[in-house]
Amino acid sequence: MGLVSAKEMLVKARKEGYAVGQFNINNLEWTKAILTAAEDNQSPVILGVSEGAGKYMVGFNTVVAMVTNMMETMKITVPVALHLDHGSYEGARACIEAGFTSVMFDGSHYPIEENIHKTKEIVKYATEHGISVEAEVGSIGGEEDGVTGTGEVADPKECKMIADLGITMLAAGIGNIHGKYPDNWQGLNMEVLKEIGETTDEIPLVLHGGTGIPDDMVKEAISYGVSKINVNTECQLVFAEATRKYIEEGHDLKGKGFDPRKLLKPGSDAIIKVVKEKMDLFGSSFKA
Ligand code: 13P
Repeated sequence: MGLVSAKEMLVKARKEGYAVGQFNINNLEWTKAILTAAEDNQSPVILGVSEGAGKYMVGFNTVVAMVTNMMETMKITVPVALHLDHGSYEGARACIEAGFTSVMFDGSHYPIEENIHKTKEIVKYATEHGISVEAEVGSIGGEEDGVTGTGEVADPKECKMIADLGITMLAAGIGNIHGKYPDNWQGLNMEVLKEIGETTDEIPLVLHGGTGIPDDMVKEAISYGVSKINVNTECQLVFAEATRKYIEEGHDLKGKGFDPRKLLKPGSDAIIKVVKEKMDLFGSSFKA
C-alpha cells in the first residue's frame, strides 16, 4: 500500500475509541524502525516530519522518495500517512507539493482571525490534493524543533471555529507540553478536553507531547475524542540511551563494531520496542 491521507484512519479511530500514533522521523533508521513496528503490530501509523527534520533529511522531496521506496521494498501493508509536524504556512504548501499526504498548519501563535484565514487557505490547497490537515488552537508548551510554546489551554469556542473550517483533525492545548514533563506538572486538563470533544462534532482530536503522560491519562484522553497522539522525545531518549550503552560497553572497538549499521542497531531496536508499546497502549495494534 502506498502513502495515504490520515483522514480515514483517524475517523475510524475516533469512531472505534482508539488513537493512531504519530512518531517523528529524523533519518533512515528511525523510518525503518517505525515502519517495522507498524507492520509487525498491524497498526496504522503516521510518520511526523518537522521542518527542521525535513531540512536535515535533505528536503521534503527526499523524504517522500525515501519513505515511499522504503514502504515498497519492505512490502508495508498497513496504512501510513506522511505528515508535516508543526508546519508554517510556506512549509505546509511545500509539503503538499512534494507529495506528503498530511500536513499540520500550526497557526496557534497568530491572532485567531489570522489563524482562521491561513488555515482556510491551507485546507483549500490540501483538499485539492486529497490530503489531510491538522490545525492547532492554544499552543503546546515546551520546545519543539526550536519553537517554544507557552502551553496555554485552548478556548473551546475557538476550537469550534477552527474545526468548522474543513480541517481533518484538531490539536488543542490542554496543558500538554513537548519534551519531558516537569515534576510539578498539573496533568492534562480533562474538563476542557471533554468540552472540546463535545463541541467539535466528532472531529478527531490530537494530543501532542505524548512522551511521559501517564497511561491512565492517555486512556482517559482517548475516551474524550483524542484519536492521534504524537510521540517524539521518547524515541530520541531510548535511541540515545541504547547507543551510549553500546559505546560504553566498548562494542564499537571490537571487530567491526564501528560499522554504522552495527552502531545504530541497538537504538533502532529500542525505537521498535517503544513504538510497539505505544501502539498497544493507544489501542491501534491490529486495527489496520
Ligand atoms: P514529545 O516530543 O513530547 O513526545 O511530543 C511530540 C510531539 O508532540 C510532536 O508534535
